[in-house]
Amino acid sequence: MSVAYKNLLIYYFSGTGNAKRTAEWIIETASEMGINARMINIDRFEKTEIPELEGKTLIGFCAPTHGFNLPPNMLKYIWKFPRRKNTDVFIVNTRAGMKLSKLFVPGLSGLAQFFPALVLLLKGYKIKGMQPMDLPSNWISIHPGLRQKVVVSMFERCERITKKFAGRILNGGSKYKAFLSLPFDLAVAPIAVGYYFVGRFGIAKTFVASNTCTNCGLCEKQCPVKAIKTIKRRPYWTFNCESCMRCMNTCPERAIETAQTFTIAFWWIILSLVTPWLLKEFYGFRLFNFDQTDWKSYIFENAFAVAVWFLTLWAGYHFIHFLMTFKAFNNLVAYTSFTKYKFWRRYKAPKRQKSKPIV
Ligand SMILES: Cc1cc2nc3c(=O)[nH]c(=O)nc-3n(C[C@H](O)[C@H](O)[C@H](O)COP(=O)(O)O)c2cc1C
Repeated sequence: MSVAYKNLLIYYFSGTGNAKRTAEWIIETASEMGINARMINIDRFEKTEIPELEGKTLIGFCAPTHGFNLPPNMLKYIWKFPRRKNTDVFIVNTRAGMKLSKLFVPGLSGLAQFFPALVLLLKGYKIKGMQPMDLPSNWISIHPGLRQKVVVSMFERCERITKKFAGRILNGGSKYKAFLSLPFDLAVAPIAVGYYFVGRFGIAKTFVASNTCTNCGLCEKQCPVKAIKTIKRRPYWTFNCESCMRCMNTCPERAIETAQTFTIAFWWIILSLVTPWLLKEFYGFRLFNFDQTDWKSYIFENAFAVAVWFLTLWAGYHFIHFLMTFKAFNNLVAYTSFTKYKFWRRYKAPKRQKSKPIV
């Protein structure tokens, strides 16, 4: 087979380096084949555009899987991507791979391939490749980072798979490995929708800066979606946070924690004490009143209750941020987080072995 494309453009987003490395492997393969290849980072994107290039162009999208979907910023990027007839595209989603003894265990894509593929199809593109890539899980809010030896072996395996995939696509072939797990992906689709519309906002608010924070501003500077603001000389995570894990894994002081225990306690206090009390005391409502017979009052009361609940949460988060300036309170939150302890490793993609220039 001869090389089918003159140009390759890869749009990528990566929290901790897995998706970026995958894009680099594809670029490397393309460059070896004499294709004019380029990677475009969509961090903090302002506009979506395709550079005008001479000759046939292949476009790739490369991003991690978040909550059984692509991360919201990549989805928004694809959503706004210009329409084009008959341009070839591929999608690679990196997932939470694990390794049990010698067995490589795959992650689960959910809608991470099928939803963006559908959007691109409707925009007129031709889907040439749908490839999940099982690199180490970076979700260290829920488990410690994998051991270095395991990480390296997963990278070696994925480099081979990615380059094989890239070679095939760049030679004009197609590959749809994503279809292998279709029944499982469809089964978790409702969770993907729930995560996108609700779950991610709750998870975004689990990050805190402990007393070891020096207010260096690196997390704010590096955040791909400008979700971290400095308030009262401490980082504050807004609802925009994608939980990409970049801040937590790159903080030079290891000062960013996921406040697991405290978050559960906080939600319990807001949901079962503060909001019900506010509603009853000031409006005579109950939170989630399912006994109403009149449907108008039913909708109004429950919508109002949810609005009060969100407002209470929002105010509560600001209050906690203020309390975190007190050393004792800060220590209480930090030391009730598993992530505070040494055994809870951080995760970053290992440094590149080959230092081939990326065009
Ligand atoms: C908030 C969050 C949600 C995740 N959800 C999934 C998931 O649904 N399925 C999966 O296989 N991996 C999931 N992962 C793991 C990442 O997709 C995986 O580690 C990816 O390779 C990280 O890529 P990056 O280093 O480019 O950010 C999740 C990770 C995070 C931080």
